[in-house]
Amino acid sequence: MKNIFVEEFVNDNGRQPTVSITTFGCQMNEHDSEILMGLLSERGYKQTEDRKIADVAILNTCSVRENADKRFFGTLGQLKKIKEKNPSFVTCVCGCMMQQQHIIDKLKSSYPWVDVIVGTHNIDKLPNLLDNLIDEKKRQIEILPEAKEIIEDLPSERLFKHKALVNIMFGCNNFCTYCIVPYTRGRERSRNPKNILKEIEKLVSGGVVEVMLLGQNVNSYRGECDGEVWKFPRLLEEINKIEGLQRIRFMTSHPKDMSDNLIKAYGKLDKLSKYVHLPVQSGSNNVLKKMNRRYKVEDYITLINKLRTEVPEITISTDIIVGFPGETEDDFLETLKLVESVRYDSAFTFLYSVRKDTPAEKFKDQVDEEIKHERFNRLVELVNNISAEKNSEYVGNVYKVLVDGYSKTDATVLSGRTDGFKLVNFRVDSDASDLIGKIVDVKITNAKTFSLEGELFLG
Ligand code: SAH
Ligand code: SF4
Ligand code: F3S
Repeated sequence: MKNIFVEEFVNDNGRQPTVSITTFGCQMNEHDSEILMGLLSERGYKQTEDRKIADVAILNTCSVRENADKRFFGTLGQLKKIKEKNPSFVTCVCGCMMQQQHIIDKLKSSYPWVDVIVGTHNIDKLPNLLDNLIDEKKRQIEILPEAKEIIEDLPSERLFKHKALVNIMFGCNNFCTYCIVPYTRGRERSRNPKNILKEIEKLVSGGVVEVMLLGQNVNSYRGECDGEVWKFPRLLEEINKIEGLQRIRFMTSHPKDMSDNLIKAYGKLDKLSKYVHLPVQSGSNNVLKKMNRRYKVEDYITLINKLRTEVPEITISTDIIVGFPGETEDDFLETLKLVESVRYDSAFTFLYSVRKDTPAEKFKDQVDEEIKHERFNRLVELVNNISAEKNSEYVGNVYKVLVDGYSKTDATVLSGRTDGFKLVNFRVDSDASDLIGKIVDVKITNAKTFSLEGELFLG
């Protein structure tokens, strides 16, 4: 393996180069960043949190809403200032924005100081491109229009020792009319189930107790193995058998692929967390149709009822878009009605954002910004009230919490998640770092809108 960048850097500076990665977007991007860091560490780069003092800064971008685009160009502006002071500072950009031609054109014409540009289908090439940058003394751009075969056994530098993100599939075939992801991540590809199991076994033997299975639409997983096709419930069943693993989560599932077998898995598999993120997007059938979601509100409610029949204590979250083209006040009222009837534990709410080259970009009846914001505020208020009410039901009871670490704002408070993904903060008197990565009993003493507070329960 050639390693020109690091070798030259060490020769010139007498130390290893430092690298910072800034990640925008979803967990898939977070995991890509972990893999990038793994690849770079293997070659001798040292990770640093602060991109202002790094030798190499990487921005891993998201394109899902306009805000994400804006933040990227804002951050790029900051990097330019650093580069003006320090010409040897190296800037790399990767992730979903790079799969869009208009972004590449803009970077080429107006951002000549960006050194390396790489797409989503070949992030593993980034270390080589850094070498080529030194070798050829010119900027490196490598974007593949489509994914090639899935590359296995990539290293990864994780944020947490005790939990891990695991890709099970890539891409999306659903083409919801508002969404950029099918264009930036390509068509659905499922990993071979044996490779997934092998990876999780290895993680567990290294101390991991919780895995988050990742994919844009994990319940359309179809892994081929020895001439057989494994669907998602079968994969879960096999993962559930791995000794030492304690919790299995997944993200995200699509209502149209929520099979009865998957719903039954919640009742059958002891390690599968009793939590589901099931994006609904809208409570109006007119809007759902124009979004190309391929289910009706009634189908969605049926799914929720089945899930609650199978597992009464299941916690449910969702994504909702407000102000999709053509959304009327009546359509919006249907969304409020749905939220009131499902009573989500939490909901991620988004203002519809026009994405270039998606079908909805061309829809004529875009909703006025002011109306969008007004509806958004009404929705958020309802969603938050319900979250707070649901959380208050936890007070006085004891839950198993997987401890993630100390709270960022208070070093005497530990923070973790219940099986149902509720965030729990609890105060500890003395050093309790040995609890990090363990599942402990916490008695809930107070409920807030977005979190619970409690105390260690010693039985
Ligand atoms: N694959 C996942 C979602 C990925 S994007 C799924 O289908 O559930 C995460 C969320 O961003 C979506 O669920 C949607 O609510 C929101 N989103 C996607 N495109 C958007 C857009 N153009 N404007 C506003 N929100 C959008
Ligand atoms: Fe986007 Fe729809 Fe695919 Fe989710 S399912 S990534 S919202 S196209
Ligand atoms: Fe964003 Fe790409 Fe994820 S567009 S939400 S980073 S798949």
